[in-house]
Amino acid sequence: MFALKLPRIKLSRKLLLFVSIAMLIAVIMVAVSVVRPSAAATDTDDEIVVNFGDQASSMYVHWRGPDTTISYGTDSSYGSSATASPPAITPVDITGPFWEVKLDSLTAGTLYHYKIGQGADHTFKTAPTGDFTWADIGDTGTTFKDPAAGPECATPWLADHWQQIADEHPDFVTHGGDISYANKCGVGSVHQFFQDIKPLSTTAAMEFAWGNHEYGGTTSPPAPKGTPPDRLANYKGRLTMPNAQVLSSDTATRLTHPGCPAVAPGTGNSCQGNDWGWFDAGGIRFFLWPEGGEPKSVVDAEAGSDPIMHAAQDDPNIRMIVIVAHRPVVSSITAELPLRAELNKAMDTLHGKYSKLRLYIGHHLHGAEVMAPRNGVTYLMDGGGGVEEVKFPASAKAYETAGSLFHSSHPSHLLGTVSGNTMTLQYICGPVFGRNPNADACTPGDVMYSLNLDLPAVPGK
Ligand SMILES: [Fe+2]
Repeated sequence: MFALKLPRIKLSRKLLLFVSIAMLIAVIMVAVSVVRPSAAATDTDDEIVVNFGDQASSMYVHWRGPDTTISYGTDSSYGSSATASPPAITPVDITGPFWEVKLDSLTAGTLYHYKIGQGADHTFKTAPTGDFTWADIGDTGTTFKDPAAGPECATPWLADHWQQIADEHPDFVTHGGDISYANKCGVGSVHQFFQDIKPLSTTAAMEFAWGNHEYGGTTSPPAPKGTPPDRLANYKGRLTMPNAQVLSSDTATRLTHPGCPAVAPGTGNSCQGNDWGWFDAGGIRFFLWPEGGEPKSVVDAEAGSDPIMHAAQDDPNIRMIVIVAHRPVVSSITAELPLRAELNKAMDTLHGKYSKLRLYIGHHLHGAEVMAPRNGVTYLMDGGGGVEEVKFPASAKAYETAGSLFHSSHPSHLLGTVSGNTMTLQYICGPVFGRNPNADACTPGDVMYSLNLDLPAVPGK
């Protein structure tokens, strides 16, 4: 029988060792490639932001870019998808396309994952049902710096502020207006704002009250030559107000605040609606009041809020009513007192009827201030988002008159926590203010001031 004789190959010890190590490395590389996921997906769309819907079971997602579909679910395998539509109001500061989608039949108090197109995995939380944490901020500005803009427009620390709040993992965020300062620093500020907030806006719903800068005329200088006035369409088109309300002055033909100039071929108001709203979170009813630059808006807000507060007062599951608004009612800074007279009257009337209204958070003045409760309502100022630092009065009398307990001009934000029968409100030191690092200096992340408000027991607990 024929037998094949193979030549005997002699391998040296060194060669055997080399072959063994190479095989071992190959096995390890294969194993690692199986365990490690493929390179993380990146977003092809930008300006991603999530808002609460009218109920805790719905959310709105907005973005700008080529994709029209969103996948979502309680883990990163998603399971559901939806198709977006153009928003009813179109931003005009930059070309789109802009998209909005409403997600329904969600479970309240739940973390959801989502991705836009084949983009990165992001998360949001639906409105909380029990204990929760939220962050409030206002008067922010952006990291955009047009070379032709003045030095007041260089605020790179805003990126640090957004990341700092994202690292605090709030369930949601309220913003008290004066958002991008595009009227002051150039039209590119609007887009940059919706990029700057990405660390936070892709992890938590963001709820906005409008400020005066959202419709402000050009502030020149420091605005670059040719900067157009900002307009509310740039914000109403990127954000959905929960339980949206319309001011009586926001008519189809109104071309100034709270409306917007016509956009051809249209001739009427290009941003009617979405002037103010409200939502519930963990037994707290939050109002997002309209910009109070004209007394009529305050009168409207008082009248429109009355039945909604009445329902909250009668609902045993609502434990407190909170108003988030742009203009402060009380402050040691006495500018705009005529406007505050309208706000004071509205607040005293509403609290007189609805005792659950116990907290008002104003912004607009660029610092933090805590006032002693007045007529049963605690008034806070939280305008230290970082655009600039306000100058507080030198006179002790001003603080005494306002009942001021604490003030700071350093960048800061509020962190609110509802735990059991207590709402804790902490002013958190924000990033160093680069133009004046020593004023009211504090260590970023430190608690600058803290106060507690008691809450009635949850029914049945
Ligand atoms: Fe303001």
